[in-house]
Amino acid sequence: MLATLLSKIWCAPAATVPRPTPIGVSCLTRPSSESLAGRLAALQAELPPGCRLLAVSKGQPADRIREAVAAGQRSFGESRLQEAVLKQAELADLAPLDWHFIGRLQANKARGVVRHFGTIHSLDSLELARRLARIAAEEQRQPAVFFQVKFRPDPAKTGFDPAELCQHWPELGGLAPLRPLGLMTLAPLGLDEAERRVLFGECDALATQLGLPERSMGMSGDWPEAAEAGSTWVRIGSGLFGPRQIQ
Ligand SMILES: Cc1ncc(COP(=O)(O)O)c(C=O)c1O
Repeated sequence: MLATLLSKIWCAPAATVPRPTPIGVSCLTRPSSESLAGRLAALQAELPPGCRLLAVSKGQPADRIREAVAAGQRSFGESRLQEAVLKQAELADLAPLDWHFIGRLQANKARGVVRHFGTIHSLDSLELARRLARIAAEEQRQPAVFFQVKFRPDPAKTGFDPAELCQHWPELGGLAPLRPLGLMTLAPLGLDEAERRVLFGECDALATQLGLPERSMGMSGDWPEAAEAGSTWVRIGSGLFGPRQIQ
């Protein structure tokens, strides 16, 4: 509550941003098909307009990504730099894919992530933002970034406090050559569906307030609520590929 209140005080007025068409919950069912191509097709059919699927291929071998590409998927999410770089090399014969980094980003991995990913969903501190901007300039790259925000106390997760994000927004929003695209959030374990809806709604409202067009919200277990709340990227791993094979 306090964070929400503070963010209202500190944040600049919202710019008008395009929003996906609202959807009804009734059309959102979890995919049940046995094949990867079938699950992809089912998910794509369920996502509302303006909401895209990030296939979280973390923990999956390159062959599974190849299979997903053959079924039409081009955007993939990875959490571990070394694992991703190996798979990118294995898949180099394919037309360029759209790689998103979604894991906790350690300072010493920042350069590698800037070199190997076009989009970063896990920008979780001012210090990391400054470092990424400096490295991106040196590498002559302009990664799109999502600021990871923690809307509820969760010792297992990092992220900006909403009020802190707003306080530093004048600097964070203008850290060229980074391209601020949106906010990313994760719902802590233990929230029920109604509580997750509220949380995703807060993320959507803060993104609107900051004039950011995208929201990265929703995973296998909660994507329908996230999509309904205005997510523009749902990050789905196990619900698509099954259990992760690489630990
Ligand atoms: C940040 C993030 N988003 C999405 C996912 C995908 O989760 P799931 O396999 O539950 O869909 C993961 C998996 O670890 C993750 O770390």
